[in-house]
Amino acid sequence: MGSNVAIIGTGYVGLTTGACLSHLGHNVVCADVIAEKVESLSRGEVPILEAGLDELVAEGISEGRLSFVLGAQNAVGEADFVFLCLPTPQGADGAADLSFIKAAATQIGPYLRPGAAVINKSTVPVGSAGEVAKKLGRDDVHVVSNPEFLREGTAVSDFLNPDRVVIGADDPEVAKRVASLYEALPGETLITDPASAETIKYASNAFLATKISFVNAMAAVCEEVGADVVDVVRGMGLDQRIGDKFLVPGPGWGGSCFPKDSHALVRIAENNGYQFGLLRSVIATNEEQFGRVANKIARFVGGNVEGKTVAVWGLTFKAHTDDLRDSPSLNIINRLLEVGAIVRAYDPAVEPGTSDSRLDGIEIAADLYEATAGADVLAVLTEWPEFIEADFAKVGESIASRSVVDARNLLDATALKDLGFEYDGIGRS
Ligand code: UGA
Repeated sequence: MGSNVAIIGTGYVGLTTGACLSHLGHNVVCADVIAEKVESLSRGEVPILEAGLDELVAEGISEGRLSFVLGAQNAVGEADFVFLCLPTPQGADGAADLSFIKAAATQIGPYLRPGAAVINKSTVPVGSAGEVAKKLGRDDVHVVSNPEFLREGTAVSDFLNPDRVVIGADDPEVAKRVASLYEALPGETLITDPASAETIKYASNAFLATKISFVNAMAAVCEEVGADVVDVVRGMGLDQRIGDKFLVPGPGWGGSCFPKDSHALVRIAENNGYQFGLLRSVIATNEEQFGRVANKIARFVGGNVEGKTVAVWGLTFKAHTDDLRDSPSLNIINRLLEVGAIVRAYDPAVEPGTSDSRLDGIEIAADLYEATAGADVLAVLTEWPEFIEADFAKVGESIASRSVVDARNLLDATALKDLGFEYDGIGRS
């Protein structure tokens, strides 16, 4: 018999969690505050690009284990487990803004079943479990931290094949009950106190961001000393203590999590009397990387991009998602637009005519070749597989100047050079 679960918030995390828990046999009611979203989800229409999610939502609805309602209070009445999956955006001072979480806790408090567990899946500062408990105003309800480790684009498979499930609870019995929701899944379950679980989430994201900034800094060194970062990473990665994951150099890290969470951890540390200089440097190195890529593009057009047309392939913060939040590509493009470049971009997940203020000033092309026609330089900024398959002979026919900045080290540099392209990657000799 499945458990009764409520999910508050149907963003990437909430919808994936709800659909996957219903797939595992639980009865799931998901709540959102946007009526149209609730209606379209009830029809099985998934508003985000996430591999496998449409199928799981359709399965849950048709088997009667997944439904959507408007308003958090309407989801929780029967639930033994209530997951808070709400945004925790970066506030003005870098700290996470808990207002959505607190408002939801205040709202659901009176409607919860006695003995229910309220579970924080959102990334929240250490100590938030206590804050949520206060807002719930219920002595008979437990607050548990259960951070998520889902990557956008592979969230469903990450959920169903976790490296670990982390549960932070003061009461071991409650922790066991929450763990039972996941018992069908592989991977280790780690039970801790709430503060440690909350910290594990920040530490994990900050460490992954550190790896990427490290490799991007090493790529800069490689360029200076004539080494090839791809070989360097292969050589490092064969050391089992290091491994090769999250050591792929690129245009810098972005997305809805790493930037927000790394700033929040700096702030948490500082508020508690520790200056996290290492993490500050990781963030600064990332900003530097955006600038380095923009400079590479400028270099190919003689140092000044004013009036030059830059073709860009890739707008999303990485491939296999349609998410533009804190995209390194947009950061780099904005640096170019600020100094007068004309930017024409193609992304398989962004339709021409898309209305989104983040795309202001960018011409959106319908395909790869429309983006490059007449361009003075091409910049590859996300790693969509279709860019690897591109016909560069065809690109060469209409591009004004045969030069490519490959910020994902995606393309075959030798083949491009054979076609007469100038090529610059990240950290390549
Ligand atoms: C990240 C974490 O990987 C998840 O474990 C976590 O659950 C999630 O944040 C979250 O906190 O919700 P996500 O933001 O979806 O997931 O994206 P990642 O795949 O981690 O990529 C983040 C950024 O790093 C992207 O801009 C990506 O292109 C870049 N990256 C990643 C690199 O430049 N090199 C790499 O080797 C890996």
